Amino acid sequence: MKLSPSILSANFANLEKDIKVVDQAGAEYLHIDIMDGHFVPNLTFGANVVEAIRPLTKMVLDCHLMVENPETYIEEFAKAGADIIGVHVEATAHIFGVIQQIKKLGVKAEVVINPGTSLETIKQVLPLVDQVLIMTVNPGFGGQSFIPEMKRKIDQLDRIKQVQNYDFDIEVDGGINDQTIKECLESGATVAVAGSYIYNSDNPTEQINKLRESTK
Ligand code: DX5
Ligand code: ZN
Repeated sequence: MKLSPSILSANFANLEKDIKVVDQAGAEYLHIDIMDGHFVPNLTFGANVVEAIRPLTKMVLDCHLMVENPETYIEEFAKAGADIIGVHVEATAHIFGVIQQIKKLGVKAEVVINPGTSLETIKQVLPLVDQVLIMTVNPGFGGQSFIPEMKRKIDQLDRIKQVQNYDFDIEVDGGINDQTIKECLESGATVAVAGSYIYNSDNPTEQINKLRESTK
């Protein structure tokens, strides 16, 4: 299981320090939540923050775009150094085109799906994507509780992946802790995002170790 600490719960006045601590603890990805105040009722960062983070680490920069009309922003995030760009199927009328646009720029493409959205809506892009993100909370804020019904959705997606022989990663995001990460792993998740579990602690390294321990 790869870990993707979400800087949404980091200390923004000490971002460099909070990035380095998870890097040194061995996290493979760094999860960056981009919110536009329209698709979700919250605002965070733009591509300039990704650009500022890029020289600080070799971790995979996992950019989760919670923005309307993501096609407008793909190029600037690619230029800023994003390794993975995730777009919500609910945020665009042209999900197939946006995934193609991301791939054309040499960046890994991810489709993201909200808790209330059916897997049927992403079926057509599954052969194209490098990663699928199953939201396990309603997007917009850190610190919410894992929605248990999402386990079935991960199971179903993993089944489609096996039957069709697809090779995308399955990422989960929202309410991940040392218990829920285990359940997600059993259902077939391969990447786990964790924000508050890691950063709302005096010892993020220990939290990462606990997540590793649970998924051994
Ligand atoms: C929520 C974001 C998450 C958030 C997760 O919309 O997509 O990445 O940081 O936070 P936790 O792990 O606290 O649920
Ligand atoms: Zn996220």
